[in-house]
Amino acid sequence: MKKAICPGSFDPITNGHLDIIERAARVFDELIVGVLVNPEKKNLFSVDERVEQIKSLVRDLPNVRVKKFSGLLVDLMNKEEAGVIVKGLRAFSDFEYEFQMASMNNKLDPTKETMFMMTKAEYCYLSSSSVKQVAMFGGCIKGLVPDQIIPDIMRKINSK
Ligand code: PNS
Repeated sequence: MKKAICPGSFDPITNGHLDIIERAARVFDELIVGVLVNPEKKNLFSVDERVEQIKSLVRDLPNVRVKKFSGLLVDLMNKEEAGVIVKGLRAFSDFEYEFQMASMNNKLDPTKETMFMMTKAEYCYLSSSSVKQVAMFGGCIKGLVPDQIIPDIMRKINSK
C-alpha cells in the first residue's frame, strides 16, 4: 500500500494546493494532508480552522485524510507509515527551497522520498501569501482559492 503525505501551511489553501492533492490522491492508495502547526508564524487561520476547511474540501476523496502536525515531518511520516512526501513545484524559483527541504528530510530519514508534481500552468503564479495580499487590498480572489473559503478569508481580513 503506497501512502504519501502532502504537507504545508495551507494558510489559506489555494486552488493550486487542491489540484496537487486531487492528483496525488489518484497516484497513491492513501494521502494524508499534513497541516503544520506553526505558532511562530502569524497565520490568518488557526490550524484547526485550516484543517476543517481542507476536510470539507476533500470530503469526496475517500483516500485522503487531513491531520495537523507539529515537529518534524519525518516523525509524522513514521507514525503514519507514509514513505513519500508529495509537493507541488511551481517554477524554478521554488527549486532551491524545495531541494533544501527534500534533502534535509532525506538526511533525517533516508527511507523517505520527496516527489514533485508540476503545478498546472494556470496556478504557477499562485501562493497563499499573494492571495492574502490581494484580498487585503480589495482585489478579487475568485478562481485563486476554492469558492467556499472566500467568505472565511474576507471575514478574517475584515476583522483585522
Ligand atoms: O506550505 P509551506 O509553509 O511551504 O510548508 C512547509 C512545510 C510544512 C512542508 C515544512 O515547513 C515542514 O515540513 N515543516 C516541519 C518541520 C520539519 O520537518 N523540518 C525539516 C525539513 S526542513
